[in-house]
Amino acid sequence: MEECKPILNTGLRGFKVASTKISDVDGNAGKLVYRGYLIKELAGKISFEEAAYLILYEKLPSQDELDRFNALLVAERQVPPELIASLESRPKDALPMDILQAGTAMLANHDPDAKELSLEAVNRMAIKLIAKFPIIVAAWERIRNNKKPVEPDPDLGHSANFLYMLSGTVPDDELAGFFDVCMVLHAEHSFNASTFAAREVASTRAHIYSAVAAGVGSLSGELHGGANTRVMEMLMDIGSVEKVEEYVNHLLETGGIIMGLGHAVYSTDDPRAHILAPMSKVMGERLGDTRWYEMSKRLELTAKEAFRRKKGRDIYVNVDFYSASLYYYMGIPTDLFTPIFAISRIAGWTAHVIEEQFGGAAPKPVLYRPDSQYIGDYCGPDLCEFVPMEER
Ligand SMILES: CC(C)(COP(=O)(O)OP(=O)(O)OC[C@H]1O[C@@H](n2cnc3c(N)ncnc32)[C@H](O)[C@@H]1OP(=O)(O)O)[C@@H](O)C(=O)NCCC(=O)NCCS
Repeated sequence: MEECKPILNTGLRGFKVASTKISDVDGNAGKLVYRGYLIKELAGKISFEEAAYLILYEKLPSQDELDRFNALLVAERQVPPELIASLESRPKDALPMDILQAGTAMLANHDPDAKELSLEAVNRMAIKLIAKFPIIVAAWERIRNNKKPVEPDPDLGHSANFLYMLSGTVPDDELAGFFDVCMVLHAEHSFNASTFAAREVASTRAHIYSAVAAGVGSLSGELHGGANTRVMEMLMDIGSVEKVEEYVNHLLETGGIIMGLGHAVYSTDDPRAHILAPMSKVMGERLGDTRWYEMSKRLELTAKEAFRRKKGRDIYVNVDFYSASLYYYMGIPTDLFTPIFAISRIAGWTAHVIEEQFGGAAPKPVLYRPDSQYIGDYCGPDLCEFVPMEER
C-alpha cells in the first residue's frame, strides 16, 4: 500500500479535499462567488430567499419559481410543540448555539424524512431547516426572557419575519432590508470549518439534521462564527475610540488575537466586510450613536498599521468585524450574533450536504477518512507492555 504523505499542523490550508459547484472564494483577489455570481453583484439586489434558491438549485429563480419556493418556506414556519416545550425546560443561561444544535436534533426526531436517504427527502429537509432555524432562535430569545414565542407572520419575508418573531415588532423597510443583506452575505462560503464538518458527517450518509448539527457546533467556536459575538465584547471592553490604540498595541505585544481580523483564506479584504461597514455607519447614524462604528473603523486602521509595523505584513477585517456593530445597532442581543450567522449559513450547509450525498460536482460520494501520524511515544520505540490493575 502506498504510504500516506504526512501533512501536519496545516489545518488543511490550501488542500482541495473535494470539488464543488456551489461557491468559490478567491482569497488573493478578495472575491466570493455564489454559483457563478460575484457576491458584490448579488448583495442588495436579491433577497435571502433568492440567494437560498440560487445556492440550492444552481440558478436565480424566476418570479414564479420564487413564489413557489417562498410558499414552501412559509408553510414550514413552525416547529413541533415538543421542541418548544423542551426549550421551556432548559436553563435560561444555556448557550444559544447549544440550543440550536439540540433543536436541530429534535427536528430530526419529528421528521419521517430523516429516515429516508433520497434526493427528494433531503431537498424537503433542506427547506424545513431553512424555514425552522429562525423559529428556534427567535423562540429561544423569547423563552429565555420569560416571554411567549411570537407566531410567525406569513405576509412577511424571511428576514423581516425573523426580526418580528425576535422582538414582537414588525421592522421597518430599512432595518429589514439591511438585515436581509446580512443574510445574503453570510449564506455560503465554500469549505469553511462548519461546512467541512457538515460535509464530513454527510459523507457517512448520516441524515442532513446530523450533518447540520455538526456544522452548528463548528460555527459556535470563536475562531469561526463565534467571532462576531467576541468582536462586540471586545468593542465593549475597549469602551471608547480614544482607547483603541492602547488596546491594539497591548494585545499584539502580549500575543493576543484581535477578533474579526485575519482569515484562513483571504489575504486581502473580505468582500463582505466592504458591504457591511457602510451599513453599520448608516445604522449608527440612524440611532444617533456612531460610537461602535467609529471604534470599529479606528480599530481596523490601527490594527492594520500596527500589524505592518510589528509583523511586516498586512491584516484585513473579515465578515465578523462590522457585522458585530451592525447587529448591535439592530438591537440584537450579542450572544445571538452567531445563531444569526447560522440561520443564514443553513442555506449553504444544506446545499453542501445535498452535493456531498448526491453528487453534482463529485462523480461519486466518498467517505472522508484522512490519516494521522501517530506520535505516541509512551514506552520509547516499543509498544507498552500491559500491566494488570493490581501491579499499576
Ligand atoms: C481566522 C484565523 C484563525 C486565521 O488564522 P491563520 O490562518 O493562522 O492566519 P494567518 O496564517 O494569516 O496568521 C498568521 C499570523 O497572523 C497572526 N494573526 C492572524 N489573525 C490575527 C488576529 N486576528 N489578531 C492577531 N494576530 C493575528 C497569527 O497569530 C500569525 O502570527 P505569527 O505569524 O506571528 O504566528 C485568525 O486570523 C484569527 O484567529 N482571527 C480572529 C478570529 C476571527 O475573526 N475569526 C473569524 C474568521 S472569519
